[in-house]
Amino acid sequence: MRKILFVCLGNICRSPMAEFVMKKLVAEAGLENAFFIASAATSDEERGNPVYPPARRELASHGISCAGKTARQITAADYNAFDVIVAMERANLRALSRILPGEDKTSLLLDYTDTPGDIADPWYTGDFAATYRQVLSGCWGLLAHLTAGCGH
Ligand code: 4NP
Repeated sequence: MRKILFVCLGNICRSPMAEFVMKKLVAEAGLENAFFIASAATSDEERGNPVYPPARRELASHGISCAGKTARQITAADYNAFDVIVAMERANLRALSRILPGEDKTSLLLDYTDTPGDIADPWYTGDFAATYRQVLSGCWGLLAHLTAGCGH
């Protein structure tokens, strides 16, 4: 089983979107049993809060539920608990370098696409649809990367 942890600043917008998009792609591929997927924040600002309503609505418009998800902060122990730690933007990677005991497992979601860089932060842009499209393309690329050579 591959364990994937998506990470953003607050764990109420981008990383939950990635978590639930990835869960849908994995389910559609019939690979639920091959993956454990979760998300967390670099900060503790939103700890315990549900997914931000505009992000929840964007997911719902694509038939994706994020019911029950509440924000949590990543810990050093997550480095051993997960195989792949996927951040949304470079600022997240800088924060992770201060929290985690290593960097070998960390990457950026858009590294798995033809357009590497940061996922736009909808907290500031207000454009949750654009963030969804970026997240979806990153998750497709990540799934292809993780299943390459597995016969899927
Ligand atoms: P997220 O979005 O990191 O995608 O969950 C944000 C959530 C909260 C804040 C910024 C971004 N904030 O400044 O509180």
